[in-house]
Amino acid sequence: MGRLGNDRVTDPLRVGVVGLGRMGSYHAEALVDLDEVAIAAMADPRPGARGRAAQLHPQATLYADAAEMLDRARCEAVLVATPTPHHPGFVEASLDAGLHVLCEKPVALDPDESDRLGRLATSAGLVLQVGFWRRFASPWVAARDAVAAGRVGRPVLIRLSQWDADPPPPEFCDPAVSGGLAVDCGVHEFDLAEWLSGERLVGVRGEPMPIVEPRIGDVGDLDNLLVVGALHSGAKIVVDLSRNGRYGDDVRTEILGDSGAVFVDMLPHGRARIGTGDGVVDLPGSAAADAMRAGVRAQAAAFAARVRGAAVDVPDAFASSRAVRAALAAMRSLDSGAVEPV
Ligand SMILES: NC(=O)c1ccc[n+]([C@@H]2O[C@H](COP(=O)([O-])OP(=O)(O)OC[C@H]3O[C@@H](n4cnc5c(N)ncnc54)[C@H](O)[C@@H]3O)[C@@H](O)[C@H]2O)c1
Repeated sequence: MGRLGNDRVTDPLRVGVVGLGRMGSYHAEALVDLDEVAIAAMADPRPGARGRAAQLHPQATLYADAAEMLDRARCEAVLVATPTPHHPGFVEASLDAGLHVLCEKPVALDPDESDRLGRLATSAGLVLQVGFWRRFASPWVAARDAVAAGRVGRPVLIRLSQWDADPPPPEFCDPAVSGGLAVDCGVHEFDLAEWLSGERLVGVRGEPMPIVEPRIGDVGDLDNLLVVGALHSGAKIVVDLSRNGRYGDDVRTEILGDSGAVFVDMLPHGRARIGTGDGVVDLPGSAAADAMRAGVRAQAAAFAARVRGAAVDVPDAFASSRAVRAALAAMRSLDSGAVEPV
């Protein structure tokens, strides 16, 4: 990426955004003034959604029809933030048009489809990155660096909590739309477990929990779920997901090693701490006033750098499919009562 002496990016990646709902508008807001990315076009069939996003990126061309945007806009890359069932179609159309893709999670509800798109991107020499933003947020980056440096020894347990404040509308929770709680929310946590440990998940078992919001049950989804799993080394993971935290969208991660632990918090502010025999201290560089916003911005910057040829490690379609397979295995285990292989 070209930079001037004062480190200013001279050629920001020209990105078109497809889908300006809850997450698309979050990206649109978070990416304002990000040097590495220029939002050149945005598409959504809803005029209100386009209007709000246009205020943030007045230079962007607006489209009601995303296919027209892919055809006509002068973009180098596409950010896909439509409902998940639309992802594969837009990802494939973008790759076919020679465009790099940053796709919201998961790339596809069907992990085989995600793998197919991953292979398509590889063979076309294009970047297909999935929106696992926690991998780019400073509290989790600092935590992973500490674990990878052996500062808490060999991991034996990873606990991952994701408690959303309130459920999205039931029509979004419908497993045919979102994949259901295990996929929709769980993919972040299954991915984090593998990324933090550097290991693969081998098996998971889900535990049903009470349904709090009956309308979520009516569409066939859950609003609370506990999953216990094992990594290749025998280390265990515990994932708890909820859509009724009420106080805020909260994510917490704890990695217990054989000589200490790392603790990641997101509320009220992002931070990571390390606990060893010397006590508990903040990990330098881990603080973030708003960890999600920081993660979403850093994720887009990493995407742009990767497209420009930098050797940046980014989560791909295969990471997405592994996380979806773990979520589907957890759901199978609710019926079988057994540990299901991932
Ligand atoms: N990474 C995260 O933390 C996170 C958080 C929330 C949602 N998501 C993901 O973001 C995606 C979108 O979720 P959401 O909650 O924003 O959904 P949403 O329903 O709020 O928004 C989807 C938007 O896509 C638009 N859309 C639908 N069909 C379209 C088409 N053919 N062309 C262009 N736009 C179209 C809709 O009009 C709507 O504005 C999902 O894949 C979800 O899993 C990720």
